[in-house]
Amino acid sequence: MPTRDPILPPGFRLGTATAAAQIEGGADADGRGPSIWDTFAAEPGRIRGGDTPAVACDHYHRHAEDVRDLAELGVDDYRFSISWSRVLPTGSGRVNGPGLDFYSRLVDDLLAAGIRPVPTLYHWDLPQTLQDEGGWLRRDTSRALADYAAVMVDALGDRVTRWLTLNEMNVHTLYGHGLTDHAPALGMGLDCLPVAHNLLRAHGLAVEAIRAAGPRHEVGVVQQHFPVLAATDSAEDVEAAEMFRILTNWLFSDPVLRGTYPEDWVAELVMNSAGLTPDQLDRDLAVIAGPLDHYGVNYYEPTVIEAPRADTDYSGVLEVDFPQDMPFRPVRIEGVERTDFDWPIVPSGLTDILVSLHERYPGLPPVTVTENGCSYHDGPGPDGAVHDARRIDFLRAHLAAVVDAVDAGVNVDGYYVWSAVDNFEWAAGYAERFGLVHVDHGTLARTRKDSWYWYRDLIAEHRERL
Ligand code: NOJ
Repeated sequence: MPTRDPILPPGFRLGTATAAAQIEGGADADGRGPSIWDTFAAEPGRIRGGDTPAVACDHYHRHAEDVRDLAELGVDDYRFSISWSRVLPTGSGRVNGPGLDFYSRLVDDLLAAGIRPVPTLYHWDLPQTLQDEGGWLRRDTSRALADYAAVMVDALGDRVTRWLTLNEMNVHTLYGHGLTDHAPALGMGLDCLPVAHNLLRAHGLAVEAIRAAGPRHEVGVVQQHFPVLAATDSAEDVEAAEMFRILTNWLFSDPVLRGTYPEDWVAELVMNSAGLTPDQLDRDLAVIAGPLDHYGVNYYEPTVIEAPRADTDYSGVLEVDFPQDMPFRPVRIEGVERTDFDWPIVPSGLTDILVSLHERYPGLPPVTVTENGCSYHDGPGPDGAVHDARRIDFLRAHLAAVVDAVDAGVNVDGYYVWSAVDNFEWAAGYAERFGLVHVDHGTLARTRKDSWYWYRDLIAEHRERL
């Protein structure tokens, strides 16, 4: 791990990121409708410790304090997400004025603090009403997202000019629809491909809706990318890893950046499972591939894949259990340090993925690392401070990995730490802590961690150098 902070390129923007369902709370406040995560969390056994997002960090009521904190941290950008069902309680139709006002105030506060607001429209929290109508298996849900995008750009577009459409379509498709670890827990295996297509189409239609508001708007998307490594160099493992790489990485980025699905067999599968004609598929791909101004990459860890071995019990290897009939198996990476969430720490994976995107897509727009971070469980000690030196090491090493990618020719324009505050880590509830600020989930008191002070100083030094 490097011991000195890297020198970042001039103009490079530093920020933090959060998502509505993970920090806001205020589940029933001021007319908000339920989302699929409220429903999922209410089912016994879904979330570790029986946690729910109902209160989260109570950011809905404490946003002024949280924005002050960001201002003192000195970030250039703050990425947050909008709760669709706070603005449109049933997902379409009636707009909830107080819900919209919340985001309008948040944007005003951020701008007053000199911070650029970067909202994500969809960070996995589909309004429950739309789920009841078929959710992402239904083609019309894409149009509903575009209509909601139009509402948001109309309300905030006089002050917000940088937009992110959807967050991590691959994780939402796989964990929420292929498997049962996330809402809406459909467990469809590979039959969930229509979800991927409808999410991609929602992205394309949302880009169109934002573009319609004028040329000053810059649009991007957030994708989770990770290197996929084969467990051995046997033909079976190499093939299984390649299939996993295609289905979890290129299936989501090729349509957006190239206007095609990665392989003919993928296009066939999508077409057949979504009931599309070849003409419809082509028309959809043209929508999905609308030009972007920036491209968001979230990076956490690489994945090692092997072809399933008949004699191996894979249960409990990862947080996620794959159904028996999946043709690939993630296996544990050995020989590297791990975070408290038990995720392997491989900073070079971030360089690798940025370089591979740059090589695969000649027209790649500037990349922002829209999330990177780690969960360590450190809390306030006897001196009242949170000594999370391991987080500082992690972030410093990953920033250095970004600089390596820049040196290799990749255009990276910024980096956002996940996350501004400890928050609701989906199926892991509040047990996992990614924040620069510690949150006591009993009292909701916030305590700045050592990593917060480190990041503040890094931002200040970067700014002074300009
Ligand atoms: C990516 C997701 O976008 C975010 O919501 C999540 O908390 C982090 N990964 C950490 O798992």
